[in-house]
Amino acid sequence: MREADLPLHYKTPATWAPSVLAQPLELLNDHAHLEKKAAANALELLNRWPEPTPPENWVAAMTAVARDEVEHLAVVCRLLARRGGRLTKSHANPYASALHQLVRRGQGTSELVDRLMISSLIEARSCERFALLGQACNDTELAKLYKGLWASEHGHYRTFLQLAEQLQPAEQVAKRWQEMLDHESQIIQRQPPGPRMHSILNPSPQEARSPRTSPEAQK
Ligand SMILES: [Fe+2]
Ligand SMILES: [Fe+2]
Repeated sequence: MREADLPLHYKTPATWAPSVLAQPLELLNDHAHLEKKAAANALELLNRWPEPTPPENWVAAMTAVARDEVEHLAVVCRLLARRGGRLTKSHANPYASALHQLVRRGQGTSELVDRLMISSLIEARSCERFALLGQACNDTELAKLYKGLWASEHGHYRTFLQLAEQLQPAEQVAKRWQEMLDHESQIIQRQPPGPRMHSILNPSPQEARSPRTSPEAQK
């Protein structure tokens, strides 16, 4: 698991992992919902291929990702149930919702590039978080799960980005990718703390006493 492989513009502090691992069932429940959403997203993208010349591996790539995510979902749900947890019926994911606000809707190929990049960003952030969880976890079974998922999600992050790179000229894609990485780093830092994959670390008591003034409040 090499952090250097990830292009993310915000680095999660290592102390995030022990803080979320303190509530393993809540974390597993959130994780299971994310796997379900990742599977649904790949199936949703499956027949959104660009016309008139879709990348040759489009359908194969999407079905492979969907299959992986369903497998991950089954493993996480099994672990959750065995430990006395239960999958909740509903689940909010403000991180993914905020990322989806960035999609250039109605703009043809650019819309598709954005959807692929957002998928790639979510996978890359999951990779980063799995690496931290795998290192911090004292529970052998959970540590094995997190370390095992790292490689799979890393493959997905590359797959989505490589598909985006086939849709528009390299310079255009590279510029948009940097913009998206910037947005993602802002969005992840705005997430609430808690036992979730896309949470932010609880502020230290000192920070909580003197919150940073938002740009709006400074006006
Ligand atoms: Fe997954
Ligand atoms: Fe994935």
